[in-house]
Amino acid sequence: MQLNHLFTLGALLLPAFAAPSEVIEERDPMTRQGKSHQKPVDTKYFHEPGGNDELGHYDIRYFKESVSYEERGDTLHHLIRSYLTVFREKNIETWVAHGTLLGWWWNGKIMPWDWDLDTQVSASTLTWLGENLNMTFHNYNWTNEDGTEGQREFLLDVNPNSAERVRGDGMNVIDARWIDVRNGLFIDITGLSETNPSMQPGIWSCKNFHRYRTRDLYPLRETVFEGVPALVPYSFDKILTEEYSARALTKTSHEGHHWVPEQKEWVRQGNLHSRKPHVPRSLQTEENPKSGLGNLLRVL
Ligand SMILES: *[C@@H]1O[C@H](CO)[C@@H](O)[C@H](O)[C@H]1NC(C)=O
Ligand SMILES: *[C@@H]1O[C@H](CO)[C@@H](O)[C@H](O)[C@H]1NC(C)=O
Repeated sequence: MQLNHLFTLGALLLPAFAAPSEVIEERDPMTRQGKSHQKPVDTKYFHEPGGNDELGHYDIRYFKESVSYEERGDTLHHLIRSYLTVFREKNIETWVAHGTLLGWWWNGKIMPWDWDLDTQVSASTLTWLGENLNMTFHNYNWTNEDGTEGQREFLLDVNPNSAERVRGDGMNVIDARWIDVRNGLFIDITGLSETNPSMQPGIWSCKNFHRYRTRDLYPLRETVFEGVPALVPYSFDKILTEEYSARALTKTSHEGHHWVPEQKEWVRQGNLHSRKPHVPRSLQTEENPKSGLGNLLRVL
């Protein structure tokens, strides 16, 4: 979502595709309050501790304090891994969307300046989630590379307004959330439905007016995101270009990060020179030389 603010040209040309949901969600109650002098009715289901900046990225029920850059990266990494793994285990179709899809396009990872993650499901999946998995907690266990184990808990919360497939007052464009209960960071899940099947068959839309053709979504492509199996829309390049402009697929510096092609990583500026350059494995010297011929050659 953060990217929207930077690719303003794209936003001007394609307002329907680029309207950042958080901004609209948060602004409405203030405007209404100012005009009518009445206490606005809070129709919003999901609440965040703050407006559309950093604090807009935490669920208010689980927010304790702002997390560091490192903790955010670690949280988002396990958020998406747990979500994709649990959904796959349960055979629930979902795919990555918006800025999360753009991160996948670059290197199969979350872009390090991102604050939240976006996924999509079909409206029928959303209905099923609401009926069967609303307010369920999910344990996710994993083993780190160094052998240590990690365990976290996530909440799947489905917005009761998700049954309504039109935008309404704009306060409930997010249909469901997958929330890290330790700190409140989350994945926004939105449903896509054919809102006008007689006039516009094959056009799928979310409540925030992003539109997709059936053939651009399906068949979904099998891929890997943050190291776990994932799905992306069939015409991911078209979808990304429409939403963020072609420039988003080539621009190599963003929000204080630089794309380093040799590493296939976005590296935070300031870390650029302290990081060791990437050396292909074939050219690396052995850290722990083995005995035998290798050592002999080294000595000679
Ligand atoms: C994760 O580990 C905890 C404790 O070690 C265990 O109680 C739980 O069942 C595990 N969850 C899964 C999904 O394996
Ligand atoms: C999910 O559960 C919460 C808490 O009970 C409830 O407020 C909400 O309406 C439920 N969502 C759906 C889709 O039923």
